[in-house]
Amino acid sequence: QSAAARGICALAPIIPVIVVQQVADAAPLARALVAGGLPALEVTLRTPCALEAIRAMADVEGGVVGAGTLLTPADVRAAKAAGARFGVSPGLTERLVKACEDEGLPLLPGAVTASEVMRAMEWGYDMLKFFPAGTSGGAAAIRALGGPLPQVSFCPTGGVSLSNAPDYLALKNVACAGGSWVAPDAKVRAGDWAGIEALAREAAALPR
Ligand code: 3PG
Repeated sequence: QSAAARGICALAPIIPVIVVQQVADAAPLARALVAGGLPALEVTLRTPCALEAIRAMADVEGGVVGAGTLLTPADVRAAKAAGARFGVSPGLTERLVKACEDEGLPLLPGAVTASEVMRAMEWGYDMLKFFPAGTSGGAAAIRALGGPLPQVSFCPTGGVSLSNAPDYLALKNVACAGGSWVAPDAKVRAGDWAGIEALAREAAALPR
């Protein structure tokens, strides 16, 4: 189930976690992030215009736009209809997995404990979001999970920053990380696309 998600996680060291407040910001924001070297974009379904933002970003050349915060089958269907090419969820439920399979939407499901990871593996997923990373043991926890579960790779998200990202990206069971710091609300509101491109460039240069 995770082949496509692995491909998306391989595109860049960081997947921007994006909260769009105004549809008009969506395309220029996506262009700035892609220009800075971050093609995979996670638009969280947390604002009323999120689906419209995905629609607008889906046309940006070089971008691979996904929907984050998928909680229900209805979210999955709406995300797919809006043009999302992958989905991200903070967790994993049977209903969510089935909906993604039915819609043909590659899913990056969330898991942080050994049992959650094993359940994901039973459903064929071995590329997982590790959320909330900072409060779930951080890089030390991911390293420890790699002992008994070395076949699984993670994308830690939640509390990841430019300064601690290298701790995660140095792990062999971390494919990439996710973070919102590359698309800060203040810069988006100000239309500071050059500033966001610079943040993206810095993140894209992180070694892994
Ligand atoms: C997420 O939705 O994955 C997180 O809220 C992003 O976390 P961050 O804001 O700490 O990067």
